[in-house]
Amino acid sequence: MLAGGPDAVRAVAVALPHVGRRSIVAGSAPATGIEEPARRIRITHPKEEHVAVTLSLTVNGKAVTATVDPRTLLVELIRNQLGLTGTHVGCDTGQCGACTVLLDGRAVKACNLLAAQANGASVTTIEGVAAADGTMHPMQAAFKECHGLQCGFCTPGMVMSAIDLVNRHPKASEAAIREELEGNLCRCTGYHNIVKAVQLGAASMGK
Ligand code: FES
Ligand code: FES
Repeated sequence: MLAGGPDAVRAVAVALPHVGRRSIVAGSAPATGIEEPARRIRITHPKEEHVAVTLSLTVNGKAVTATVDPRTLLVELIRNQLGLTGTHVGCDTGQCGACTVLLDGRAVKACNLLAAQANGASVTTIEGVAAADGTMHPMQAAFKECHGLQCGFCTPGMVMSAIDLVNRHPKASEAAIREELEGNLCRCTGYHNIVKAVQLGAASMGK
């Protein structure tokens, strides 16, 4: 029994409100006036709350409702909950561009956004760019035609970025294409054929 009884325990808990859910093992009497044999004081926080948010968005033209932890990344929602694994995760730190999707028509890195930030928005992934009959999007066809891919890991992100690029910059020069694609990394191709693919894709799209 602590000197001072239960009131002394409560006094310590009030004095150390941010210690968290753990035990404190004291090597000597703490500066609280509590004397031997004070050795172990258990302080617990209120139960953690498990919070979830429900989102409504459009993905590849279809209305989607999803309930997620507020910390869920957009790429996690896309891949893990919606099963759209064409969107890749290369670095998870916003550097490689493999996770690029269109959010209301603009290219974004889905590992850099919370799913909640897409609430009410329209998301397009690589699965959503081909025609309903399976005909490839002109930019996809251009990557195939120009051999703009080897292993293909970067390709979904490259295609999504390229579509946004040519929509924003019709008639983009080679230098502009290279500059615009600097946020998408490719470890295989050396980029030359990717640039040619973007030029062909732009022409096919009438850009
Ligand atoms: S996985 Fe998102 S930028 Fe690399
Ligand atoms: S084709 Fe392999 S990473 Fe780009």
